[in-house]
Amino acid sequence: MSAPARTQVAIVGGGPAGLMLAHLLRLRGVDSVVLEARPRERVETRQRAGILEHGTVDALREVGADARMDELGLPHDGFELRFSGRSVRVDMQALTGHNVMIWAQTEVTKDLIALRLDQGEPLLFEAEVLEVSDVETDSPSVRYRHGGTEHVLHADVVVGADGSYGPARRAIPEHLVRRFERVYPYSWLGILADVAPSSHELIYARGRTGFALASMRSPTVTRAYIQVPNGTDAADWADDAIWDELSARFALDDGSFTLARGPITDKSVTPMRSMVCEPMRHGRLFLAGDAAHIVPPTGAKGLNLAVADVRVLAEALGEWFATKDERLVDAYSDTALRRVWRASHFSWTMTTMLHVDPDGDPFDEQLALSHLRHIGTSESARRALAENYRGLALGAV
Ligand code: PHB
Repeated sequence: MSAPARTQVAIVGGGPAGLMLAHLLRLRGVDSVVLEARPRERVETRQRAGILEHGTVDALREVGADARMDELGLPHDGFELRFSGRSVRVDMQALTGHNVMIWAQTEVTKDLIALRLDQGEPLLFEAEVLEVSDVETDSPSVRYRHGGTEHVLHADVVVGADGSYGPARRAIPEHLVRRFERVYPYSWLGILADVAPSSHELIYARGRTGFALASMRSPTVTRAYIQVPNGTDAADWADDAIWDELSARFALDDGSFTLARGPITDKSVTPMRSMVCEPMRHGRLFLAGDAAHIVPPTGAKGLNLAVADVRVLAEALGEWFATKDERLVDAYSDTALRRVWRASHFSWTMTTMLHVDPDGDPFDEQLALSHLRHIGTSESARRALAENYRGLALGAV
C-alpha cells in the first residue's frame, strides 16, 4: 500500500495508541495515515501486559474491535495479594462496581490492525520516520522511508505514538521538555507456559526473596513473572529454577496452594522504569502513549493509559476539525497528564509495595508490609486500590 501525500492527522507509530487513535478519528470523520517502523509480524507478536480497564474495553467496542475479546477475553472481578504467607482478596466488582478484562495487548493490536486493513485505510509497516518538521507552523510534515524511497507526508497535525525511543518527541526542542524519571533496581523475568492457570484470579505476591505474579493468557496458558536483578539474562534461568522460585513466592503458611507446572514456551526479561514527559503537545505535534510516559508493568497500566490518551485526543481533534474550537486541543496535555500522574503513582505504589529492594533497608520493608496489612484490614484501603486498578473514569482524576 502507498500512502497519500497529504492527510489531516499523520500518526507516527502503529502500536495500540496510534491504531486506536486512527479508528476513533475515522468515527469522527477525520482522515489519518499511520506509519509504523517495524514489520507487521513484529508488532503482532510483542508480549505485553494483558489487563484492560473498562474504559479500554469501551473504546474497543466503540471502534468495533471487540468480537474476539468478547469470545476469548476473561472478565475478572478481583485479584489476590500475597505476603507473609497469607492472602488478601481485592473484590473490585463489589468495591467499585466494575471489573477488568484479561485480554492480551498482542491480541488487541492484531484486531486493530485487521480492522484498519479491512477498511482499506492507510497503515504502512516498515515505514521508518526520519524527521518530523514544521510543528510550530500550521503545515507540519513527516519525512519517512518506505519501500526503498523517501516520502513526505503533509498534515494538519502530527501525533507521536511511536514509543519511548521513537523519533517524534525529538521535534520538541529539548529546553521545552520536562522529563521525570525513576529507574527501579530490579527487572521481571516473564514466562509463558502451556499449563492451566493455578488460580482463577491474578496473584500479586511479595515473597521473602521478591515479587511474583501469576497471570494467564487463556484457560490453558499461564503467564507468570518473578522479580530478578537488573541485567539478568533469561537464558541463565533453568525452567525448574523458575518454577521453584514461583512456588516459594506464592506459598501460603497453611500449605493450601500448589502451583501447577508445565512446558515453558517463552522467557524474557523486562526492565522497570517510570517516565513522564511534559508537556504532551508542542504546536501541531501531540504525543500519546509510551512516547510521552512509561510505567512499570505492575498493575498493567501502560496500554490503558495509551488508550485513555487517544480517547481524549480524538475528542479534542474531532472538535477542532469540525468547529475550529481550540479549547479541547489546548487542554489535551493537562487533561492527559492528570491521568498519567495518577497511574504513575499507582504503578509506583504497587511496584514498591510488592518488590524487595536489594538496596533497601529494613525500614522500607516494614512500610511495605504495613501497607499490605492495611489493605488486608481496611475496606477503604482496598477500595482505593481497587479504584486505581480497574481505572478511574476519564475526567475523574
Ligand atoms: C500480564 O498478564 O502480562 C500482566 C498482568 C498483570 C500485570 C502485569 C502483567 O499487573
